[in-house]
Amino acid sequence: MKKCITLMLALAAVVVFILPAFCQEDITEIKDPAFQTLKRPAVPFMHDEHNEKAGLDGCLPCHHEGMENGEFVEGDPAKCADCHEVAPTDDSTDLKTAYHQQCIQCHEDAAKGPVACGECHVK
Ligand code: HEC
Ligand code: HEC
Ligand code: HEC
Ligand code: HEC
Repeated sequence: MKKCITLMLALAAVVVFILPAFCQEDITEIKDPAFQTLKRPAVPFMHDEHNEKAGLDGCLPCHHEGMENGEFVEGDPAKCADCHEVAPTDDSTDLKTAYHQQCIQCHEDAAKGPVACGECHVK
């Protein structure tokens, strides 16, 4: 029994420490550790608030696991850096371009949201 309680406490600790990393509502900025040193200030991005304001109900405009016939294929939310390298050796989309293309293209299409460097990389 004592062993079991110890195990349960250990599991509870794991849940408490790991869970926040997966809660998108806690995301307030993008500061991707994959870049190691940043040339520009981190980008404020209130995940849920942004998507609500922008009227984005689905996850697909952003989260995908690949592309087929020029269209994103829906995928579980994951770190962009899981698939997009900072300096890929093939012709896949690099991490900086992945962020820029996704964020800026939609803002341009919607004619809303920031498109200039300093509007996203806020000092
Ligand atoms: C719509 C928002 C947006 C705009 C506009 C934008 N960026 Fe970014 N940029 C991002 C995001 C998001 C990242 C990933 C941020 C991170 O991890 O720090 C990023 C990453 C970067 C990075 C790689 C990370 C670093 O800091 O070294 C550089 C360099 C960069 N941007 C420069 C620019 C420049 C220069 C412009 C203007 C020509 C620009 N960005 C415009 C959103 C934007
Ligand atoms: C406007 C684009 C956008 C939309 C729409 C969006 N997300 Fe995200 N989401 C992001 C970005 C950007 C990140 C940060 C990715 C990173 O850190 O590499 C993120 C991160 C996450 C994470 C954390 C992933 C991890 O492993 O750290 C979860 C979970 C998540 N989103 C869930 C969702 C769900 C569920 C939806 C749909 C209801 C959704 N998102 C819609 C852009 C979006
Ligand atoms: C599970 C893997 C995976 C994850 C996670 C992922 N991508 Fe991708 N993404 C791909 C693949 C595969 C392609 C197609 C090949 C390529 O362009 O690199 C792609 C293509 C893209 C493209 C190019 C679209 C075009 O029209 O050419 C952009 C932009 C992009 N991803 C942005 C992102 C952003 C931003 C995130 C994080 C919110 C993200 N990706 C997360 C796998 C992924
Ligand atoms: C699929 C469309 C879409 C994508 C992708 C998208 N945005 Fe937006 N974003 C919008 C729209 C629409 C608005 C304007 C919302 C309004 O105020 O009406 C907006 C507004 C913003 C604003 C203004 C403040 C706010 O929260 O309303 C910021 C900052 C922003 N976006 C950052 C980003 C970043 C960083 C990314 C990439 C990680 C991103 N956006 C990706 C559609 C998008």
